[in-house]
Amino acid sequence: MTTTASPATVRADTTCLDGVDLAALAQRAGTPLHAYSASAIRQRIGALKNALRGLDALVCYAVKANGNLAVLQLMADAGLGADIVSAGELRRSLRAGIPAQRIVFSGVGKTAGEIAAALAAGIARFNVESEDELHLLQRLAAERDVIARAAVRINPGVDAHTHAKISTGNADNKFGVGIDEARRWFAGSATLSHVHLDGLHVHIGSQMLSLEPLRQALHRTADLWCELAAAGHAITSIDVGGGLGVCYRAGHDHPVAIEDYTDVIRHALAGFDGRILLEPGRWLVAEAGVLLTRVIRIKRGRQRRFVVVDASMTELVRPSLYDAWHDIVPVARESRPLQTCDVVGPVCETSDTFAVGRALPECEAGDLLLIRTTGAYGASMASTFNSRPLAAEVLLDRGRYAVVRRRQTFEEMIAGEQPAQNWETA
Ligand code: LLP
Repeated sequence: MTTTASPATVRADTTCLDGVDLAALAQRAGTPLHAYSASAIRQRIGALKNALRGLDALVCYAVKANGNLAVLQLMADAGLGADIVSAGELRRSLRAGIPAQRIVFSGVGKTAGEIAAALAAGIARFNVESEDELHLLQRLAAERDVIARAAVRINPGVDAHTHAKISTGNADNKFGVGIDEARRWFAGSATLSHVHLDGLHVHIGSQMLSLEPLRQALHRTADLWCELAAAGHAITSIDVGGGLGVCYRAGHDHPVAIEDYTDVIRHALAGFDGRILLEPGRWLVAEAGVLLTRVIRIKRGRQRRFVVVDASMTELVRPSLYDAWHDIVPVARESRPLQTCDVVGPVCETSDTFAVGRALPECEAGDLLLIRTTGAYGASMASTFNSRPLAAEVLLDRGRYAVVRRRQTFEEMIAGEQPAQNWETA
């Protein structure tokens, strides 16, 4: 095993990211501000592609991690596909130039309308998660007289050893179907006139820092592939999902080396001559992003010192939702003495807290802070709770920046709301 962590990364030092001065950027674009390094994302894409060399593999970026059109365009430019979970993500991916033939559709709640839209677009594959969905797909494909290609998402009953809220491979999770049920689907697949069931899909969880659960899940998948092949069911694609973890806490989180990850895939699927699909989200974008936020004030509580910042759970919900740790550093050149504090947002929720009892260089109102590793599941999970307009997002690239989502205005935020005056009966 190699012991190196992730490949060389364009990581924000405390003042600069991808050649852009962060203090000047915050001055011009305002805070809170999501900033993503295009170079860092390209580096990750390159490293993953390199680790997959020699395999018939297609990387379908998990759009949910960060669906900003400019980020999706980086994926499109690199020839990546997309893993989508809604009609909205389908439209985003197509709009960004990702060809339908490189799009796969996962999720337990695909509606008839969403399936119809995906069939109309001609996506590559549906990762089917229930028998009801399989029959709906058959019916809708028959109505259009097209053949839908499908994979069974199996739930291999493997614990991903990650946060319970982002584990998906246990038998009691809502995702996928058991191996017995998958066998039954294949046994009855001859009756599916408009669904070509020839793929397997597995995704057991996210932010995995150990390869063992993945190895187990892939070996179970490979056993099923062999068994099905022996029974005459050709499997032409195996989708290994996403889930590769990143570093949120320097010196504490040790992500696996990308080559070790792909070695697990190579080994588990040795002899498989179909296409291997991968659905990484977080690994491609998380460490490329930072959230810039300004200190509003220091509040001395009775027992704690609160650093109140202008970002909140509406820009980054991970700490509130999963008690997730994100490194926080001041954007400052000079060093200052450390002080223990809680970093909190302005939202009226106790859980609107980025850090508790954290040793941070002393800071004061007006200081700029950088919250790291926010490129994935940051802006994509944003809300307007407390009537906070959505934050701006910028893409940085070798000394330049472009606004890729302008800050939402108040009027945009309330667009669509209206007084109750046009009463109707239903
Ligand atoms: N494929 C499927 C079917 C998925 O459900 C997911 C993530 C992925 C791929 C991408 O996983 P990744 O490579 O990003 O780990 N909001 C949570 C993460 C939820 C992930 C949901 N599914 C967080 O902030 O940690």
